[in-house]
Amino acid sequence: MSTTHFGFQSVDENDKARHVRGVFDSVASKYDLMNDLMSAGLHRTWKAYTVLVADIREGHQVLDIAGGTGDLAMAFAKKVGKTGQVVHTDINEAMLRTGRDRLLDKGIVLPTMVCDAEKLPFADASFDRVSVAFGVRNMTHKDVALAEMCRVLKPGGKLLVLEFSKVAQPLEKAYDWYSFKVLPQLGKLVAGDDASYRYLAESIRMHPGQKELKTMMQAAGFGHVDYHNLTGGMVALHVGIKC
Ligand SMILES: C[S@@+](CC[C@H](N)C(=O)[O-])C[C@H]1O[C@@H](n2cnc3c(N)ncnc32)[C@H](O)[C@@H]1O
Repeated sequence: MSTTHFGFQSVDENDKARHVRGVFDSVASKYDLMNDLMSAGLHRTWKAYTVLVADIREGHQVLDIAGGTGDLAMAFAKKVGKTGQVVHTDINEAMLRTGRDRLLDKGIVLPTMVCDAEKLPFADASFDRVSVAFGVRNMTHKDVALAEMCRVLKPGGKLLVLEFSKVAQPLEKAYDWYSFKVLPQLGKLVAGDDASYRYLAESIRMHPGQKELKTMMQAAGFGHVDYHNLTGGMVALHVGIKC
């Protein structure tokens, strides 16, 4: 039996996706509210920066992986025009349904698909841009998922990975206190679920740091990889070019 981590727990590799599904089934209905509360709205700035760096043009084919409640898909849809397309995907049906309903309420209709980032159901070189925001951390085989993202990109295409990362050392103590003391309490109060928010804090600590993720993206086939630290490294945007 191969094991992997689920937060600070060690679980059977074949079981991680089920544990992750449990987390997102539980938080889907309160996900957007919790995102705003936990980050004091900062996640909107991190995503707006991602959209800026994505440099989406009219006619682009865009794939949003682990798209959840659809923040990035919605922003991209406004940029691709009538000739382009954004495909909104996630492995979790509850998250995807919440996102699809939210997009429909805003008059945005996108192809929406349940799919696992580790086995993308798209042909090679299908997309100009691929994005994944706060999703890679939850994937069992990150190397496989990154290689899939590279495969479905056109040559010259761009991958945007927005993810929690290693915070700058002077902020560590305060960040730990907030993550392990405040977040689970907030989760309990607002979403009736402290365990999922404890998992969030733990999964961030287990996730590769900026340099490690850059190396993983290079190993997955990206010829050029760069990262941008946001909010003192709390979050990083990694940009990979398939070349
Ligand atoms: C924290 S949410 C991020 C949602 C959205 N991208 C955002 O930034 O608000 C993480 C998402 O990753 C999805 N996810 C986890 N593992 C996945 C996988 N292997 N393939 C695709 N999506 C996955 C979860 O279902 C969840 O919706």
